[in-house]
Amino acid sequence: MSMPATLTLTRPDDWHLHLRDGAALRAVLPYTAAQFARAIVMPNLKPPVTTASQAIAYRERILAARPAGSDFTPLMTLYLTDTTTPAEIARAKAAGVVALKLYPAGATTNSDDGVTDIRKTRATLEAMQREGLLLLVHGEVTDPAVDIFDREAVFIDRVMIPLRRDFPELKIVFEHLTTREAAHYVRDADAHTAATITAHHLLYNRNALFVGGLRPHFYCLPILKREEHRQALLAAATSGSPKFFLGTDSAPHAAALKEASVCGAGCFTAPAALELYAEAFEAAGALARLEGFASHFGADFYGLPRNTGCVTLLRQPRTLPEQLPFGEVTIKPLLGGQELNWSLQPGWS
Ligand code: NCD
Ligand code: ZN
Repeated sequence: MSMPATLTLTRPDDWHLHLRDGAALRAVLPYTAAQFARAIVMPNLKPPVTTASQAIAYRERILAARPAGSDFTPLMTLYLTDTTTPAEIARAKAAGVVALKLYPAGATTNSDDGVTDIRKTRATLEAMQREGLLLLVHGEVTDPAVDIFDREAVFIDRVMIPLRRDFPELKIVFEHLTTREAAHYVRDADAHTAATITAHHLLYNRNALFVGGLRPHFYCLPILKREEHRQALLAAATSGSPKFFLGTDSAPHAAALKEASVCGAGCFTAPAALELYAEAFEAAGALARLEGFASHFGADFYGLPRNTGCVTLLRQPRTLPEQLPFGEVTIKPLLGGQELNWSLQPGWS
């Protein structure tokens, strides 16, 4: 089979992204703006973005941090708490907020204000269902009695299935799938259920955490799983099903915080996001399916127009910088210092 030298796609979107704030935001936003037309911006700042007016202010800070000439559009989300009101949902809708993020309290980075019991949010979820706001779910239980590698699968039974039954019209995105159970759950669910998949979960299994020693830059939540799960995710992403679309979960943490005795969860993939997805799809013999996954299905599920214009990937090896500036400190991209097979042509047409 001949290998194409270029791959041109409709401009893609990132349906799950952490941009942070302040100097960190200014440091990381250019990487995403160079690749993606839009991104769903996670609300887990400190303190979290819980109100429409906070989302409007955060959107303004993101727009102000865009590189000159960029038309990147941030799509804003609110952080769902036990006390988010239906009135706040109406204000969010009016402000152009597109979704709420459900973090089970304590599940991951900056999730202490998350939902302690989904039943407390019933009236708010009803308002979202009515107003057409999506629910984006970090699908892991936080019960310390459940093994960390099983927390996603247990979440399906304990939370997802009852939630789906109680709010049949609510659009739900099961974020950053990591298991076969979740991939099959979404595949077999109704049309109001979809999922994002990260590049790192398509490329790596949990062995990557331990190659020759502990590898903090591969530590993210939900944590990498066994090879059989990676295979199931790859099958889902390359299946052509519109229920699965691109969400990098690029989650920047300073290098010093990753390389500490307690390492923050998150992989920083924004500097080469599309290139990493291209590697995964190519290895699966499915490069032709990348465009739907990266550029069409997410917009369709969110009810937003597909982008116009294109980006082009070149089969031209490039070495990712080992570290990059991050405000006053530095940050290490996943696979920094290593050679990637693809390069994104700068700019777009
Ligand atoms: C995210 C972060 O750092 O904000 N970390 C991660 O491992 N994915 C939080 C999250 O999305 O879970
Ligand atoms: Zn995330």
